[in-house]
Amino acid sequence: MTQVRRAVCPGSFDPPTVGHLDVVERTAALFDEVYVAVLVNPRKQGLFTVAERVEMLAEITLHLPGVRVEAFSGLVVDYCRERGAEALVKGLRGATDYDYELPMAHMNRHLSGVETLFLPGAAGQAYVSSSLVKEVARGGGDVTPFLPPSVHARLAARLEG
Ligand code: PNS
Repeated sequence: MTQVRRAVCPGSFDPPTVGHLDVVERTAALFDEVYVAVLVNPRKQGLFTVAERVEMLAEITLHLPGVRVEAFSGLVVDYCRERGAEALVKGLRGATDYDYELPMAHMNRHLSGVETLFLPGAAGQAYVSSSLVKEVARGGGDVTPFLPPSVHARLAARLEG
């Protein structure tokens, strides 16, 4: 019997961007099963609730059969263990992301042996982040290129309401 290879793509996803989707799609091409895991962070109030983020991610990953979307709380390594995942996969847009991610990768490997794999962010998307997209959208700028259409519609509705 061949072993099922599972990976976790964790994040805040407030909201998910085309950059996030690109990382999930590329991870799905490498692993049998992918868990997109939205962190429940009681210390950080988001623009979208965790349930809304899970819904948005589920909508934009419908075309990827091996992908499931869930919320998680606590340590990501515990979530990986519960799901039988051997790797975390994250996108790196540049050196700043690397500096932020490297200590977490070492710590997670120390805690549980889980490996972190970094995918280079898609060319041309290095400046796309959830926080910048929100800031530009709040100021009335066009963020259409940076969000999957269904996410863009939700963001527009949220900022209108
Ligand atoms: O999208 P983000 O906010 O950059 O994602 C950060 C995230 C959720 C991947 C990271 O904060 C995380 O894994 N949090 C879970 C708590 C945890 O395991 N912390 C120790 C990391 S070494």
